[in-house]
Amino acid sequence: MAEAGGERLRSLIEAGIGVSSELTLDAVLQRIVEAAADITGARYAALGVIDRTRQRLERFVTSGLSREEHERIGELPRGRGILGVLIHDAQALRLDDLTQDPRSVGFPPNHPPMRSFLGVPIMLRGTAYGNLYLTEKDGGFSAEDQDLVTLLAAQAAVAVENARLYESATRWSRQLESLNEIGFALIGELELDKLLALVAQSLRELLAARMVVIALPTSDDRMRVEAAAGDGTEELVGWSFPRPNSKAGRVLDRGRTERVDSVIDDPEVDPISARRFGIRAGLYVPLLVRDHAIGVLAAHDKESHDGRFGDDDVRLAEQFTARAAIAVDLSERVARDSLRRVVAGQELERRRLARELHDETGQALTSILLGLKGVEEAKDAETLAEAARNLRELVVATLQDVRRLAVELRPKALDDFGLVPALERLVETFAEGTGIEVQLEARLGEERLPGEIETTLYRLIQEALTNVVKHAHATTVSILLVRRDGKVTGIVEDDGRGFDPAAARADGLGLVGMRERAGLVAGRLTIEAAAGAGTTIAVEVPVP
Ligand SMILES: Nc1ncnc2c1ncn2[C@@H]1O[C@H](COP(=O)(O)OP(=O)(O)O)[C@@H](O)[C@H]1O
Ligand SMILES: [Mg+2]
Repeated sequence: MAEAGGERLRSLIEAGIGVSSELTLDAVLQRIVEAAADITGARYAALGVIDRTRQRLERFVTSGLSREEHERIGELPRGRGILGVLIHDAQALRLDDLTQDPRSVGFPPNHPPMRSFLGVPIMLRGTAYGNLYLTEKDGGFSAEDQDLVTLLAAQAAVAVENARLYESATRWSRQLESLNEIGFALIGELELDKLLALVAQSLRELLAARMVVIALPTSDDRMRVEAAAGDGTEELVGWSFPRPNSKAGRVLDRGRTERVDSVIDDPEVDPISARRFGIRAGLYVPLLVRDHAIGVLAAHDKESHDGRFGDDDVRLAEQFTARAAIAVDLSERVARDSLRRVVAGQELERRRLARELHDETGQALTSILLGLKGVEEAKDAETLAEAARNLRELVVATLQDVRRLAVELRPKALDDFGLVPALERLVETFAEGTGIEVQLEARLGEERLPGEIETTLYRLIQEALTNVVKHAHATTVSILLVRRDGKVTGIVEDDGRGFDPAAARADGLGLVGMRERAGLVAGRLTIEAAAGAGTTIAVEVPVP
């Protein structure tokens, strides 16, 4: 017996070495089951891994059952009956005939008969990770079997722990790699809408979540869904809800990640929305930019049997969100920057108009005042008529100036009659004032363009004409507007001296402002010019 005992101990040690040489958890579990069957001589062995609810088994690895037997039994045990006893008690259990035990619930159809039974828990840091189940040993299991399996279970625990660490380390390094890839992709997207959509979609893929929603606070104390990913979530974009008392609003205020295993049981989650979208679990991560929460990412329902998120998911989501925040910050700064430049351009324009009003119109009015004096002091009819004539000319010229200024500020015709009549006026005053011949051709159809696009095109053409007077020395300018295939194209072409666009002053607000203005309506500006060959400015704007 002592000899036999020594033999068994040796094979136990060998089994321990074999088990700990495996790296993946699946392989470790399989080895443990086989080693347990080996050293006890049990016909069947199984290892059940307890799930997070601690009520059921999430994995069931077996030895001794053929594949056909497996298939005939169908679904594997989940932890009722005797298996359940071990889940709850975490104590070794040895029975001569498990079918005689009052706690037994019997076997499913096609299950091979099993009588003698030995069950031993595998403890990991004080809690039961799973159980080893052995059945059908000739003559039943002995106390020694129980000791040996208990020793094996202790070794198995270490191997399981190592394999888990190894798997989580490799998974984490894989995830870090894809996190970095995504991080780069995010930084390349500067338009906030598109960026947020990309963030939602990437996070959903990373977490294998059913849906991800991004909500940002609005100025009127609400939260608005700016992006969403997942089936059937398109309709969510644009939806808003009150910020106080909402889960997202609270996470935003607290600035801390929160994981909710069951949204129904969280009093902060609005039960109506939870039911409406059929969500069970949630992971809420604040989008922090320089320690300030600017929005909230909410992931719902991991694609697993209970939908909950784990510690790994929290870590992954936080790391990802940190990268996304950098991209969002960047995109907002770029947007602010281009807005600032547009505003700066407008200011410059206003200053010019103010100067013109002051210098030209102011001076003209002063001259008129002087002329009036001449009228008052006229000694004879002829001098009076002469003074009145001069005065009339001055008034006519001033009136023209004022009209021109008004048109430059904001042509009334643009609001009242639309782009083409407004351009006709502009072109008329331009031709009169400069002596440059202008041809205007518009093929825009009956329907008016959206107001924003009309203004943009008007301003772009106006600015292009200003450049023609200032720089081109042209004799003719032609303007063409065409609406076709969901976009409108505007072209301003002059026969002046042209210039080298690459060498043009970069500080000129004209061309830069034109490009930005076009960008604001998702349009594109192209400049075709060469010294001595005239200039063509084309803008293409999509029409929704
Ligand atoms: N139609 C044109 N013909 C010739 N040169 C032009 C024309 N439009 C622009 N340019 C050149 O491009 C430069 C930049 O234009 P812009 O950005 O409008 O600045 P600005 O008009 O204030 O100089 C001009 O200084 C000029 O040299
Ligand atoms: Mg200019």
